[in-house]
Amino acid sequence: MLKGEEGYAARKSMEILTALGDIYGAERLIKVGSVQVAGVSYHNLGDAGLEFLNELAEDGRVKVLTTLNPAGMDLENWRELGISEDFAIKQNLVIDAFKRMGIIISCTCTPYLIGNLPRYGEHLAWSESSAVTFANSVIGAMTNREGGPSALAAAFVGKTPCYGLHLKEKRVPDIHVQIKASLTKLSDWGALGYVIGKKAENKIPYITGIHEADVDELKSFCASVVTYGAKPLFYIRGITPGAEMHQPPREKVMVEDNDLKEAYSKINDEATDIELVCIGCPHCSIKEIAEIANRIEGKEVSAKTEFWVATSRPAKQLADQRGYTAIIERAGGKFACDTCMAVAPLKGRFKSLATTSAKGCFYSRQNGMATKMGSVEECVKAAVTGKWS
Ligand code: F3S
Repeated sequence: MLKGEEGYAARKSMEILTALGDIYGAERLIKVGSVQVAGVSYHNLGDAGLEFLNELAEDGRVKVLTTLNPAGMDLENWRELGISEDFAIKQNLVIDAFKRMGIIISCTCTPYLIGNLPRYGEHLAWSESSAVTFANSVIGAMTNREGGPSALAAAFVGKTPCYGLHLKEKRVPDIHVQIKASLTKLSDWGALGYVIGKKAENKIPYITGIHEADVDELKSFCASVVTYGAKPLFYIRGITPGAEMHQPPREKVMVEDNDLKEAYSKINDEATDIELVCIGCPHCSIKEIAEIANRIEGKEVSAKTEFWVATSRPAKQLADQRGYTAIIERAGGKFACDTCMAVAPLKGRFKSLATTSAKGCFYSRQNGMATKMGSVEECVKAAVTGKWS
């Protein structure tokens, strides 16, 4: 491949993988079960990225199951979300390039909910940080946090360099985090991720003191803990796989209710008027959409506010079947499939945002928005009144 015997894309890919292997001291390549490619939004790629993808699409064909991270727009409903025609044309060219490569156009950061579900111990090359953290921690698969090009390279070769989180000895927890705080709503998991991310500082947390967690809470925690500092791997004793194989590390920190309170005060800005409410970071599960529908039924979104539900297209299709879509849209809400508040071109469009997600707040601040984080109930209230109270 490196000599170009399998074409241009394979040669480029091997150049990327062998360079990474050299940098990180990998002794070999290992097979990957699936790939998840980030760097899909034209907003982030620009023309240079589009050109790079078109070159690879000439003869590059993926060798393993490969799915995509969110794009810069809803691929069907972009007009409704205020995306310009010029942007849509370019975004569609990006998607066409991925299609030619044989990639499944799933456009979600929750691939594990819609058909790209790895098994325990499987090696992967995934890119999006919350998905990588979920795969490593909640499923017990093994993946580094790939960049867009290195994930694509792994897809064309079917292998990735064996270093970092592919090695058992690099997956040993190095900080014990004892939780003494109570977690009562979804956003508390985002706040917890903020606190642990800051306290763990690029270490692997071994967490005790949590006795139950559902998939939505864990995916929210995954997004936050890696955004705010920790490695894309954690263990929760009694909840996630692999914790029983390790002893609690000697270095120990506590998380108490006050820490969560402080996290909320750091994540929340001064805004009272809310211009955008977005729930679905990571992308909403069908269970989360059901809760939104139940809470918004019979209400009306304020004329001053947009209310977006970000999710994968298959989750939206389930919502269509169950009538949740009709309820949410009747109230004035909009579905943002295939995309999210971080990768859509939102800079300058909204001054303030309310969301359930700590990660969503992090990226929306970068897009110039004042942020508020709270429960689904508080977010729906903000959508209806246009205010955060
Ligand atoms: Fe997913 Fe976008 Fe959040 S990629 S984790 S919804 S910032």
